[in-house]
Parts: sequence; structure tokens; C-alpha cells
Amino acid sequence: MTTTPPDLGGVVVLVTGAASGIGAAVAGLAADRGATPVLLDHDGEGAQEQASALRSRDLPGGRALAIAADVTDETSMRSAVESTLQRLGRIDIVITCAGVSGPVGSRLEDVSLADWQRVFAVNVTGAYLTLKHTLPALRRSHHGAAVLVASDSALVAAPGMVPYCASKAAVVQLARALSVETAGEVRVNAVCPSVVDTPMSRGDLQRRDFTGVDYPVHRPGDIAEHVLFLASPRAAGIHGAALTTDFGYSARSAFPA
Ligand SMILES: NC(=O)c1ccc[n+]([C@@H]2O[C@H](COP(=O)([O-])OP(=O)(O)OC[C@H]3O[C@@H](n4cnc5c(N)ncnc54)[C@H](O)[C@@H]3O)[C@@H](O)[C@H]2O)c1
Repeated sequence: MTTTPPDLGGVVVLVTGAASGIGAAVAGLAADRGATPVLLDHDGEGAQEQASALRSRDLPGGRALAIAADVTDETSMRSAVESTLQRLGRIDIVITCAGVSGPVGSRLEDVSLADWQRVFAVNVTGAYLTLKHTLPALRRSHHGAAVLVASDSALVAAPGMVPYCASKAAVVQLARALSVETAGEVRVNAVCPSVVDTPMSRGDLQRRDFTGVDYPVHRPGDIAEHVLFLASPRAAGIHGAALTTDFGYSARSAFPA
């Protein structure tokens, strides 16, 4: 078995939600592997800071582009994709990381319609619009692949997270259904991580960090590795998969042994 990381030389990787957390880690790892990352976020300043930090490193691909765009807005996403294609000529891989957790801790009867709609707008409609506008470019690429960052919340649940859990289940089935529609042209997969140490989880769990907690926590770079494996030609036979990375938690039976 080879241990060298997949080579992404010459490949353009568009990452949504790349100003922070998992998206920033994916963009950084893609750049380390020779790709040109496009860091898309509605926090344009944050995306620009991440891209500048990448450009200041001695990267094999040498380039990193930041784009301010809102994944819930079709006009914004159409022009973000057009501008990427004008500047770089191609998009080979798309990673959808933009996401919000919504009203964590609220029981369903206390969730406002506006909060419910916002969670679905970013997590589900955002992934749909990102893919809708990048699929023509992905179809033209020899590497065409997309990885949607869902969550273990697509499969298991904690109280007070109904909108988020429902939205992430929709993301998994979006990936599976699209993988069937694009079979032979673009590989589409999803990842379903448990807690990852990012600003989102720190905010939701009201923690400054995860030192000393009695549950396992991923680093953003761990998820970036999983995502870029699924996006790479090494995962050529993997279509429509939802890779659960939860330290084996959901595999545990209720049997008391
Ligand atoms: N942190 C975890 O424990 C965890 C676990 C499983 C899955 N996830 C998922 O991973 C993804 C990344 O989350 P993270 O933990 O890195 O969070 P994060 O808050 O650090 O990053 C999310 C990014 O998405 C961007 N974003 C939000 N709304 C946007 C919009 N409308 N348009 C463009 N960009 C937008 C934010 O500006 C931010 O940069 C999310 O989809 C999240 O649901 C996170």
C-alpha cells in the first residue's frame, strides 16, 4: 500500500466556507498537494486572509484565489463560478463546506420558521446552487469530483438540533442522488464527521477549546484528509458514499457487552 499523498498538481479545487474551520483546512491541504484552491465564502475578508496566508507559503501550485460569495444566492454563485472560470479556466473538484448549525439547544416547537429556513438555505440550497453552477465545469474535467461535507448528524441526533440534523440528512441524499445522475462523468460523495474542533463547534458547545473533554474530537486537518482522498483519483470506484468518521460511535450496538 502506498503512503504518498494524492498529487493534485494542476487541479483547481473550489471550496465553499473556506474562510474558517474545515473549509480552510481543505483549501490548505489541497494547496500543499499542488492544487490551486479557490476559497469561496460570504466572509470575503476571511477568505482573502486565508488565501493570502496560503500564497505566502512556498506552495507547489503557487496560487490561491479568494472569492466573496453567498452560497444561498444564485446570482452571487453564478458570478463566482464565472469569475473563477475566467481567471483559472477550469474547476476540477468542488468541496461544499459552507454551513451553519442554526438554533442549537432549541426544541422544535421553539424553532422559528426563519431559523429553520436559514439552516436549509445554507446547508442544502447552498450545496445545490454550488453544484448546479459548477457541474458543467466538473463534467469537462478528467478529475471531476465533488465532496459534500454533511455530518454524523445526518445519521444520529442530539436533542436541540432538529433543523441541523434534518438538513444534513438532506445533504447526504443530495450527494447520493446526484452521484447516480452524474455516473460516469463526475463522482459525488459525502463525509459525515462527528465533532470537529472549529469555531462552529466551539460556539455550539460553548467551549474555548476541547482540552480534557471525555469524547473524541477531530482536527479540521483530519477531515481535510478524508475529503481529499474521496476527491482524488485514488477513490475512483467510490460514488454516492457517505463516509462516517465518528470514531466508531455509531457502530456500537445497544447490547450490554
Ligand atoms: N465542526 C464540527 O463539529 C462539524 C462536524 C460535522 C460537520 N460539520 C460541517 O462542516 C462544515 C464546515 O463547518 P466548520 O465546523 O468548519 O464551521 P465554521 O463556522 O468554522 O465554517 C463555516 C464557514 O461557512 C461560511 N458560510 C456560512 N454561511 C455561508 C454562506 N451563506 N455563504 C458562504 N459561506 C458561508 C462561514 O463564513 C464559515 O467560514 C459545515 O457544513 C458543518 O455543518 C462541522
